[in-house]
Amino acid sequence: MRVTIVGSGFVGQTTAMRVVEKGLAEVVLIDIVEGLPQGLALDIRESSPIEGFEPNVIGTNDYADTAGSDVVVITAGFPRQPGMSRMDLLGKNAAVVRDVVENVAPGSPSAVIVLVTNPLDEMTFLASEVSGFPKRRVVGMAGVLDSARLRYFIAEELGVSPSSVEAMTLGSHGESMVPLPRHATVGGKPLTELVDQGTLERLYQRTRDAGAEIVALLKKGSAYYAPSAAITRMVRAIARGDRDVLPACVWCEGQYGIRDVYVGVPVRLSASGVEEIVELELNEAEMGALRAAAEGIRAKCADLAKL
Ligand code: APR
Repeated sequence: MRVTIVGSGFVGQTTAMRVVEKGLAEVVLIDIVEGLPQGLALDIRESSPIEGFEPNVIGTNDYADTAGSDVVVITAGFPRQPGMSRMDLLGKNAAVVRDVVENVAPGSPSAVIVLVTNPLDEMTFLASEVSGFPKRRVVGMAGVLDSARLRYFIAEELGVSPSSVEAMTLGSHGESMVPLPRHATVGGKPLTELVDQGTLERLYQRTRDAGAEIVALLKKGSAYYAPSAAITRMVRAIARGDRDVLPACVWCEGQYGIRDVYVGVPVRLSASGVEEIVELELNEAEMGALRAAAEGIRAKCADLAKL
């Protein structure tokens, strides 16, 4: 399994490290900045004798070196600065994503593309249009990250281990994120039996604002440890076809009553991309929120065409 990671900034480089350390695939790290991916890849390889992994990572500025990739992770683009919304990045990052996809797609025509650049949902749509790949082979990473943040906040609130918390968010990567309280559990118990409505609302709002909370603290750039962990989880699902259900930004064709738009829903991934969109039982409010998120993304994607 060969994974190309485009963009060797904070998200790209930490993803390369996680994927290589876990032995999930050989990694090609690429960037427009000369020397950056080469230096980072060498640095990762030099840590291999201590950490005990196979040093299967190279850095390059030449797309020819990415040919034949099974997965292409796109992290190239500008991160948010304090006070910015993800949507403020639309114009600048659309140009970057277009350039990247035009360069990387021809050499890896069978790859699954995993988009990470923000605004996530719209950039995933753009990558699918520019690549011309079947929609099932272009997915966006947001739900695994948003869900991990929510799971962590619940664990922190209740003083339990984060791994005992199961929770999922659907919808968009932003204000119209859709949390699913009825599906969340802590040590197997329904979350709704453990916390009151006010606490739930507070945890959900913190999850919606979690990216901005980190941006405000860092003052320069945005989060990368949790994002790279989430990307690596998706790469693992694609590499191993483990059948686990993960939330991801994918093209819906009637599932949840949503058609012809990218939006965050639960899926099973494999080396051929989206194997299946899993249709959870949603109540009216949850379904309404998911459809509203999808319509919001559809409108923004129409704006993209005017850029
Ligand atoms: N081709 C290849 N690489 C590019 C291009 C391009 N056209 N344009 C920019 N890059 C590279 C930059 O040189 C830089 O190394 O993308 C990298 C971005 O790195 P950072 O600025 O550190 O940003 P990062 O924190 O990694 O976030 C990247 O992921 O989570 C999202 O919102 C975030 O959109 C942002 C993206």
